[in-house]
Amino acid sequence: MPHVQDHNQVVREEFTRQAVAYAANPSIADPERIARLVQAVSPSADARVLEVATGPGYVAMGFAAVAREVVGIDLTEAPLAIAEQRRQEQGLHNVRFQLADAARLPFADGEFDVVVCRLAFHHFAQPPGMLSEMVRVCAPHGTVAVEDIVVSEHPARGAYPAERAVEVRRLIEQDAREDLSGTRPFQTDEGQWCFTQHTAIVVGRKLN
Ligand SMILES: C[S@@+](CC[C@H](N)C(=O)[O-])C[C@H]1O[C@@H](n2cnc3c(N)ncnc32)[C@H](O)[C@@H]1O
Repeated sequence: MPHVQDHNQVVREEFTRQAVAYAANPSIADPERIARLVQAVSPSADARVLEVATGPGYVAMGFAAVAREVVGIDLTEAPLAIAEQRRQEQGLHNVRFQLADAARLPFADGEFDVVVCRLAFHHFAQPPGMLSEMVRVCAPHGTVAVEDIVVSEHPARGAYPAERAVEVRRLIEQDAREDLSGTRPFQTDEGQWCFTQHTAIVVGRKLN
């Protein structure tokens, strides 16, 4: 595994490069999808919420509509700047964004009633350490929730496709013919390839 600082540098470069495109992705901004996560957590109206790895801040702002106060942190400045711009455009005063590493959350033990993270665990160098940090800053009886991509539990399907981007199109086309990954690829009339990406939301309650 690369050194953690090297890994963080790759994350910063990548999410700086794609910040605008990522924020414009309709499936990322999708309010119904965000509402499903908010509903799964169901925070009380006086809850303090932390979103770890907030990116352009859509999830944080979704929680801000129903909770007392929300803080969104991220390792990368470019998506945080987009989040702050959206916050101002929407006139939200109960959400703020700050630069921080999920590995060392700059908050006291038990500061938040809800700690949530969407679509970032698969980018973390040390996911168990990040989860421990989320639990640490969550209050007793508070809620820790993670939403992320899941692959098929069928081993051969889970291992497919290979990582090399140049081969992905060929792999998807073969997948469509032979049902290799379980992601059900199909081609639109315009020739664009689409496939189904499964995500899971896991919500936990901290006991003490
Ligand atoms: C795919 S985006 C998800 C953004 C947002 N949670 C969402 O659902 O739209 C992943 C984000 O994780 C952030 N990230 C990756 N590693 C991180 C770390 N160690 N600490 C904080 N943020 C991190 C990246 O900067 C990026 O903004």
